[in-house]
Amino acid sequence: MVQALIRKSACVADLKKRAKRRIPKFAFDYIEGGCNSELALKNNREGLDSVFLRPEYLQGYSKPELGIELFGKHYSAPIGIAPLGLTGLIWPDASAMHARSALKANIPFVLSTVSTISIEDAAKNAEDNFWFQLYPPADEEILNDMLDRLRAVGCQNLVVTVDVPTPSRRISSIKSGLAVPPKITIKSVLESAIRPIWSLATVRAGLPRFATLHPYIKDAKNIEDISNFIRVTLKDVVDETTLKTLRDKWQGNLIVKSISHEDDAIAVKEIGVDGIIVSNHGGRQLDASLPPAETLEEIINAVGSDLTVMADSGVETGVDIARYLALGAEAVFAGRAFLYGVGAHGELGAEHTIDLLRDELEQVMSQLHCSKPELMHQYLE
Ligand SMILES: Cc1cc2nc3c(=O)[nH]c(=O)nc-3n(C[C@H](O)[C@H](O)[C@H](O)COP(=O)(O)O)c2cc1C
Repeated sequence: MVQALIRKSACVADLKKRAKRRIPKFAFDYIEGGCNSELALKNNREGLDSVFLRPEYLQGYSKPELGIELFGKHYSAPIGIAPLGLTGLIWPDASAMHARSALKANIPFVLSTVSTISIEDAAKNAEDNFWFQLYPPADEEILNDMLDRLRAVGCQNLVVTVDVPTPSRRISSIKSGLAVPPKITIKSVLESAIRPIWSLATVRAGLPRFATLHPYIKDAKNIEDISNFIRVTLKDVVDETTLKTLRDKWQGNLIVKSISHEDDAIAVKEIGVDGIIVSNHGGRQLDASLPPAETLEEIINAVGSDLTVMADSGVETGVDIARYLALGAEAVFAGRAFLYGVGAHGELGAEHTIDLLRDELEQVMSQLHCSKPELMHQYLE
């Protein structure tokens, strides 16, 4: 089976092509799209492509060991599954598939606040590889309850996303009428009809719902009510005060996602957070943003070794992961790649995506004679 998968989908680009054939257009567009004119998306690619690695072939060789330590836990590779909202639209239970495959491969899995499986389900599937991404609720009772639920399932790592002060404008989703949660339109029904396997799986599982937030949604009579609830309940602007409050309430590791300026990195270090993810949300929020491949070194120089600095955005191959590691990231997350994996081949696709990225990274490290991820910076041109 594995060999057959490798022949069908030998790289993430193959997974993407196959996912496009298996899921309806509105769902594919939701994954693929960047915001506005999709310049940030393009610039993420160009930013990574302009990072070059330089081997010294005559220096000693030892087989690469991909394992890393993050926040005191050993992981088998410096690769993680980024938080992804509304994954049930791609395939029912996509996040559970990601969670199980992350556990199996021993890499971090981050559940989104607006994912379609609950905190409890995700933790059951990912065990201690489970991390949680928070869009902080404005209502303190809901926030406290969510933090209690995270403690109850043993979650150690809380990731707070700061780059959604306002909803983004993704043209393809506006055109397809995709709303959160999804609306059923004639167009979406027609697009689904020509993807019968997806339709059957989705009909069996029922329309995706926001499972983590579900217990707080009272008096919702219809999809509009749920949508309004989420808009009102989740804070849009996350500022230093919000982060200080979270620091006081959360004793586990606190990680801030979507840092793109060194001043913000210094500010969160002073608040006492444990780590940051340098990211521009995969080019889905600010079209004029700098690619993380350009900001990462500056940010690392500003915060020194006091924070665990990780990165995401634009990862399509293990070569891209090697590039972020060479720029100084301790671990690298990917988003879309994992959705293409599930869209293309279901749960095996989730596992296959991890294998592909890991094997490609290992090949690059071997090529460079680099024995460990933390030594990758030596090979930056
Ligand atoms: C379909 C989709 C949904 C996403 N949902 C969330 C989310 O709920 N919370 C969040 O912090 N980031 C979210 N992101 C951003 C990812 O966590 C990550 O930053 C981004 O996907 C990395 O770029 P890449 O897709 O090029 O790997 C989402 C990204 C995609 C593609």
